[in-house]
Amino acid sequence: MKRLAVILGLALIGTTAFADDDDDDGNGHYWPTAVSDRDYYDNGEPPAAKVELGRHLFFDKVLSGNFNISCASCHHSLTDTGDGLSLPVGEGGAGLGVTRDTGTGSDAVHERVPRNAPPVFNLGAREFEVMFHDGRLAVDPTQPQGFLSPAGADLPAGLDNVLAAQAMFPVTSGTEMAGQPGENPVADAAAAGDLPTIWALLADRLRELPGYVDLFQAAYPDINDPADITYVHAANAIAAFEASAWRADNSPLDRFLRGERGAMSQSARKGMRLFYGRAGCGGCHAGSFQTDHNFYAIAVPQIGPGKGDGVSGHDDFGRERVTGLRSDRYRFRVPTLRNVALTGPWGHDGAFGSLEAMVRHHLDPVVSFEAYDRSQVTLPFREDLDAIDFLMHDDELARAEIAEACELRPKRLRERDIRALMDFLHALTDPASLDLRHDVPKSVPSGIPIFD
Ligand code: HEC
Ligand code: HEC
Repeated sequence: MKRLAVILGLALIGTTAFADDDDDDGNGHYWPTAVSDRDYYDNGEPPAAKVELGRHLFFDKVLSGNFNISCASCHHSLTDTGDGLSLPVGEGGAGLGVTRDTGTGSDAVHERVPRNAPPVFNLGAREFEVMFHDGRLAVDPTQPQGFLSPAGADLPAGLDNVLAAQAMFPVTSGTEMAGQPGENPVADAAAAGDLPTIWALLADRLRELPGYVDLFQAAYPDINDPADITYVHAANAIAAFEASAWRADNSPLDRFLRGERGAMSQSARKGMRLFYGRAGCGGCHAGSFQTDHNFYAIAVPQIGPGKGDGVSGHDDFGRERVTGLRSDRYRFRVPTLRNVALTGPWGHDGAFGSLEAMVRHHLDPVVSFEAYDRSQVTLPFREDLDAIDFLMHDDELARAEIAEACELRPKRLRERDIRALMDFLHALTDPASLDLRHDVPKSVPSGIPIFD
């Protein structure tokens, strides 16, 4: 084993430039390999005109049924590509980040969005083949369009990658962007499950805005006439923007892996050894982006309105919703841990309000689950919404099932080990991600104000 380790170590010299004891925690666990341009679509440099188009679309409320919410409302540059809330406030709300409210009068939101808005860092890396907390969208070469998705045969051809395929969906959700039936034609099509009509209606809107026609023509040589614009072009551009703006691979860990030995503090290096060794994190949070892209049940408390599962309809069965397998109940995707210190609240439903609470949960999941402190959620107050936030967590039967399903074994770590682990997680922050204000366009072609 040791000999094999030495050979592997030697094979790595040159590309990763290290070969001393730090490579190895003594148990044969190896550090991940350094990330490079090759790991990203377009070698990390999507065409500039496409990125520019995508940047405007991402921040433009023109893509929502009622012209009142953009992608950025839930994935904002000022809130580290999330929204800072446990559960987002969708169409009908007003304001940004933790100041966002649930709206007023007949426009007010109908429910909370049932899952936490994930960060969008590094999703332009090819290895992110699975999208959403339950993986309901994924690369699948056996499908005619190349992706398995909730749209089935309705998903159009011509999508550049799975990130572009993802951008087809938020606009089809009544709660997130489309609105309620009766409010606008996009919402009506959404309520009827007619996705092609939604995409066609949005393309019609874009064609009528001269500012967009110019941006589309600059980005795509095959667009000669406004009539050539489709929502697929829009989705591909949005993905190019996300991939380019939020690539984040210059953290202390990256620099360390590229051979800069002093980039990580001694404590962070100790945390790294624990992470890939005794603490067992690297088993699931594997590879260069700290995820094996797989699904596990780790007893994160269930909060919010849920996805319509269970007797009450307020549960969220996670991966089972996609595979139909009972054994996948309460399994959620292993998230990347890049920039994780910035991307709270944590967990698929934002149940944890501090990174440390999330990490400690992993060390003794069922005990942490039972002792869960609900005051740590960040959710804008509204009496009727609040009333169902903890319905599942107060349900003895559901609780027993979530605890029973947990696949994560308790780990005993000393306090100073936990501190080192935290230091390692902080070493996954790319300093360039600390201030993303420059991503925000000054205005968008629809003329709709960008800020609420
Ligand atoms: C109302 C809030 C909201 C809006 C608006 C919104 N999203 Fe999201 N986004 C979410 C939530 C919540 C999820 C996770 C849903 C799930 O996993 O079931 C998500 C998931 C994603 C993901 C997948 C990330 C991953 O790691 O799997 C991407 C990428 C993304 N959104 C991009 C976009 C784009 C592009 C738009 C605009 C076209 C958009 N979002 C609009 C809330 C929002
Ligand atoms: C059995 C697989 C597994 C192991 C081992 C594991 N995790 Fe996780 N981790 C997950 C899953 C699954 C989630 C998402 C759970 C959810 O959203 O409900 C997660 C979520 C997280 C998050 C929250 C990320 C976010 O963006 O919300 C952090 C931080 C984290 N893990 C750190 C660790 C650390 C540190 C260790 C080692 C002590 C560890 N994990 C071990 C599976 C694992």
